[in-house]
Amino acid sequence: MVMYYVTWLWIILFGLCPSSIPDSIPIGMFRTECHDRHFWLSISSNVLGNKFRINVQGGSEVHEVSGQWAAECGYTIGFDSWGDLLLRVSYLACLVENQRETEFRVLVWFVNQYSNKEEKSYPLLLTCPLQVPWGPRELVCEENYMEVSVFKHSPPDNHIGVEWVTPAPVELDEGLREWRVVFRIPVLHQEGGMREETVPVRMAHLLGYYINTTDTRILLRCPYGSKLAYMLQWGEAGVEVVSATIMYKLKWTLLTVDMSMACTMSQARMDGSDVLWSLPRNLPTLFHPSFIEKGLKLGVGGRYLSECVAHQRGYQIHDNNGTLEIRIPFGAEGGSVQSHVIDGRFSQSYFVDVFLLREWEDAAWSLTQQRIFRAFSIRHVPRPITVINMTVPSLREFSVSLCCFPPDVSLGNVTVAGQPVVWEEMERNGVRLSQNPLPNNTHSYLLRIPFSHPLVSQKYLGDRLRRYTLSGVFSFILTPDGEIYDHPANVEADLQDVVLPKLEGECTVWGVRALAYYGNIDSSEWSLYFGGMRLDWELVELGGFSLDAKEHYLSVDVPLYAHGMAYEGLGMQGLLVSVLVSLVHLETAEEQTHVQRCVFPVRELLVCLPDGRMVVMVDTAGVSPPVNPNHTALLDPACRPLETDHSRALFSFHIDSCGTIATYDGDQVIYRNEVRNMPPFPPHLRPLSQPQPHYRVPLGCVHPANGNRSLAIYLPSHPPTPLPLKHTHKTASHTGHLEDRDDKIKSLPVGG
Ligand SMILES: *[C@@H]1O[C@H](CO)[C@@H](O)[C@H](O)[C@H]1NC(C)=O
Ligand SMILES: *[C@@H]1O[C@H](CO)[C@@H](O)[C@H](O)[C@H]1NC(C)=O
Ligand SMILES: *[C@@H]1O[C@H](CO)[C@@H](O)[C@H](O)[C@H]1NC(C)=O
Ligand SMILES: *[C@@H]1O[C@H](CO)[C@@H](O)[C@H](O)[C@H]1NC(C)=O
Ligand SMILES: *[C@@H]1O[C@H](CO)[C@@H](O)[C@H](O)[C@H]1NC(C)=O
Ligand SMILES: *[C@@H]1O[C@H](CO)[C@@H](O)[C@H](O)[C@H]1NC(C)=O
Ligand SMILES: *[C@@H]1O[C@H](CO)[C@@H](O)[C@H](O)[C@H]1NC(C)=O
Repeated sequence: MVMYYVTWLWIILFGLCPSSIPDSIPIGMFRTECHDRHFWLSISSNVLGNKFRINVQGGSEVHEVSGQWAAECGYTIGFDSWGDLLLRVSYLACLVENQRETEFRVLVWFVNQYSNKEEKSYPLLLTCPLQVPWGPRELVCEENYMEVSVFKHSPPDNHIGVEWVTPAPVELDEGLREWRVVFRIPVLHQEGGMREETVPVRMAHLLGYYINTTDTRILLRCPYGSKLAYMLQWGEAGVEVVSATIMYKLKWTLLTVDMSMACTMSQARMDGSDVLWSLPRNLPTLFHPSFIEKGLKLGVGGRYLSECVAHQRGYQIHDNNGTLEIRIPFGAEGGSVQSHVIDGRFSQSYFVDVFLLREWEDAAWSLTQQRIFRAFSIRHVPRPITVINMTVPSLREFSVSLCCFPPDVSLGNVTVAGQPVVWEEMERNGVRLSQNPLPNNTHSYLLRIPFSHPLVSQKYLGDRLRRYTLSGVFSFILTPDGEIYDHPANVEADLQDVVLPKLEGECTVWGVRALAYYGNIDSSEWSLYFGGMRLDWELVELGGFSLDAKEHYLSVDVPLYAHGMAYEGLGMQGLLVSVLVSLVHLETAEEQTHVQRCVFPVRELLVCLPDGRMVVMVDTAGVSPPVNPNHTALLDPACRPLETDHSRALFSFHIDSCGTIATYDGDQVIYRNEVRNMPPFPPHLRPLSQPQPHYRVPLGCVHPANGNRSLAIYLPSHPPTPLPLKHTHKTASHTGHLEDRDDKIKSLPVGG
């Protein structure tokens, strides 16, 4: 198959072809090669016009290469797997000039018609030397014909396969016209039965058989499906057989030679990911007993494959119980691949031109060579695209490879989470994309995208574990039609890299401040709760909360008495309140909590507790005449302060005690008492009746008659409204923030 001694003359050939004037030949338009037994001419698909034809010329005879004539005469024309026009011409074809069996020439005219109806003709004189000497018997199974040629024996050689026969009674010419062909054909409805039909050469010609002779060879050729050929079933396909003997006369001797031909009609099919072509190891009529395989060579696209290359590309030949199996990985180099989108699936068609040279020796022939040419097209096979996940979570980026694409597929777009990845921004966002060639003429794409990319989604799984998810779609363009194929690539990776949000708190003059440090997961995944109430805008408004989002934390100021605060106690140090702040993860329900306790100094306060206690602090400062807090008491003078300091007195008592008066008002009960000054009398000055106290602070709590009591906090100077308001003797006004409040300060839940 060496490119050797290829002459493609386009010398002026006016005399030969008066109708056509040769045009100059564009570079790269034609490729010619000399193969074992045929001329090989390829015409680039790029230059093919609307219409074109190939003519051959021998002397003054010109023939268009097509149809029956081409098949009978040894010409094969068609498109190769790359779409180029291909002409194969047997060295023994009609109109080929045979130079003493060692050099062959043929004059070919390529006539191209362009869209403007203009025709251009290119003459090509193909010349090929014989590189591989002729063998005793050579068979060809072409796409459109079968051919056999054998040595023309001279009588002294007594070869097997050539038999001496008693001269026929009829006088024979030396000429071809007198030759006879004996066809053997099966007898219908009689298994194994054969009958013979002897026809003269002229008759055989009419039946579509080309018979001729060269200096050294006898030739028989016929298109497939000729009369007197028959099919033998083999597997699902058949083998077409022409069983023929030619009788010819040489120097007074009548010779017969077996000119049988057989070609497998089997097609290739997909088997797993391979293209599988099976053919019988023994072809009927061609293999005589005890044959010995002498060689088997496979070629694709017009070239033999060395064992090494075949191995590299994954081609295989097996002898499987009488069946030769030739396997070619779908898409392997040597053929061509065309990609499509069929029903949304990535599919490919594979075209491969295969040829096979088989050589064997048997009892009849010292060597038989058979050359088989077959063009296979395997169409629309759904092809898998592999998404290879090469992500190493600790590297904090996704690494995804999509494999494997033939050259007619290129990446157009990548969308992540429905958003196109903008190439210009890729580098800035740390995204890297590469196209990587593979040894088998395919390529893959590798996309790396950092976990931190805004289009990578994150999900907190709990226990500081975070799942990163890349939902990508790779969008490919298929040439030449511009079809678009989208392939999803969804990968995820888990990493324990979560810094949880953290809660802190502090006391302010006005209330409690909670600080929620964000941590490193989306703060919108967390809900902030105050005293069990979710922080929403309603709570913010009702409670008078104020929010301030800082870079690293959110600060929430909760005013004293706001919803969410809990009453823990009232003492001389002040009012003890607490806030339970919690952050709850919406999905995992994982919770962070913090309790912030604060003491607010108070001078006066009345607390009505749900358990029925009243806790009250009064301040006697500024009362005139002065009142010693040690000398204050409730309606029951035995109920004395729990604690005192220089001006304040703290009482705590139950509504059932200390002289508390309960009055029913509808479905409410009003409990009244008061703090008064009750100075002890000197023992020697015991009066008959108690003097009217000059210091009286009315106290009151209102609770529902039936049902649960709630906590209420008031300034003693502003007791609950249902109380008959009788202002005290208290004259001094107290300064302090609590006095700015309304009569009933907000309620605080009771603390634990
Ligand atoms: C047979 O071959 C001879 C010479 O090779 C050629 O001149 C002749 O035309 C051929 N016969 C046919 C029928 O093609
Ligand atoms: C081999 O093929 C023959 C005939 O086709 C069949 O009878 C035989 O079972 C096959 N042997 C194996 C091992 O497949
Ligand atoms: C090409 O090579 C890659 C990697 O070795 C392999 O995965 C792929 O299947 C091959 N494709 C073909 C068509 O041989
Ligand atoms: C690229 O993406 C856009 C939508 O973002 C889509 O309309 C277009 O078809 C894509 N192009 C290719 C070549 O994939
Ligand atoms: C991809 O790789 C990561 C990291 O090795 C692994 O966690 C994940 O399960 C893999 N598969 C997919 C489909 O994301
Ligand atoms: C009240 O009594 C306590 C102890 O009985 C005493 O220490 C304190 O000084 C008294 N306060 C006043 C203002 O008298
Ligand atoms: C009263 O409190 C109890 C226990 O806390 C509760 O089960 C009940 O529903 C409350 N009743 C009303 C009317 O709120």
